[in-house]
Amino acid sequence: MSAAIHKQPYGTTADGLPVDEYTLTNSHSMVVKIITYGGIITSISVPDRDGQFANVVLGFNNLADYETKSPYFSAITGRYANRIANARFTLNGVEYKIPANNGINSLHGGLKGFDKQVWSAREIHGDETGLELSYLSKDGEEGYPGNLDVKVVYTLTDANELRIDYSATTDKTTVVNLTNHAYFNLKGEGTGSIYDHIVTLNADRYTPVDENLIPTGELASVADTPFDFRQPKAIITDIRSGHPQIVRGRGYDHNFVLNTTNRTQPGLAAQVSEPVSGRTMDVLTTEPGVQLYTGNFIDATLVGSAGSVYRQGDGLCLETQHFPDSPNQPDFPSTVLQPGETCQTTTIFKFGVS
Ligand code: BGC
Repeated sequence: MSAAIHKQPYGTTADGLPVDEYTLTNSHSMVVKIITYGGIITSISVPDRDGQFANVVLGFNNLADYETKSPYFSAITGRYANRIANARFTLNGVEYKIPANNGINSLHGGLKGFDKQVWSAREIHGDETGLELSYLSKDGEEGYPGNLDVKVVYTLTDANELRIDYSATTDKTTVVNLTNHAYFNLKGEGTGSIYDHIVTLNADRYTPVDENLIPTGELASVADTPFDFRQPKAIITDIRSGHPQIVRGRGYDHNFVLNTTNRTQPGLAAQVSEPVSGRTMDVLTTEPGVQLYTGNFIDATLVGSAGSVYRQGDGLCLETQHFPDSPNQPDFPSTVLQPGETCQTTTIFKFGVS
């Protein structure tokens, strides 16, 4: 079997915009499906240790559900992924107010973030099959300054990797933080919880949060806390701990400070394995952080792609990113983008079996 990409109509948005779905296949029959609405990955089909394929991302089987109910299932998240405290930040002495859509904070780009836009698509053919998505976020959209030209390229390699290359340029000083918000379940979506998934994180420190899930600014050591994933550990081990940070997040909903020093090449951020299926996933990134979110707010009101109801803990996210609230935290790595610069990041999800 050789690498291929094909396109088919997926639906029409409530605003009347057509949405397509692209199916990328590699020579090992791994299949990734992406729609132009939100750049959402609707399916990643990978084999278990016996060669049985399953879709390992949570999602829906229709556009209307993605438009109205989705907790950012596998969507491109921006202009600023994660939280900005009090829905405001200051650049060059000017205060920008952005929509508060998460209590007093702004979350994942505001009311109509990149996850809710229809992106333009271009197929990439060659040794590796890819899909380039582009979107122009206009000056002032969701309160952010500057026309931001964004490109996200999804590439499916023959090493069973899904590589995501993000780039953005602006014509005014702005802030940018782009990620993909996939919820993984390596047993297959809709099969139950991720508590038995074994996770390793390349992080000695994490960013503790206040009662609004905004980092306090401290880079705290993970040693002797539920946040220590330096050795492989099942999610269940500490998720029921009474540690105040776990209580605050209703589980894991925290940014980890990656140990990688060279950010020009993707470095190992996380490894996940699921003992029953044997499926594994490595996450590599050029980003300084990763948010581990264990689907704490999923509450059995959503019916997933294959017809099962999703409950709390049915998927886990590893959102590679800059730290939450960086625009208001001068000691965090900067998310400011200036005209003439290109914001460029890469994240790789590499699938295998053990
Ligand atoms: C956030 C969670 C939020 C989820 C879905 C995650 O990135 O950290 O707090 O509930 O996205 O919106």
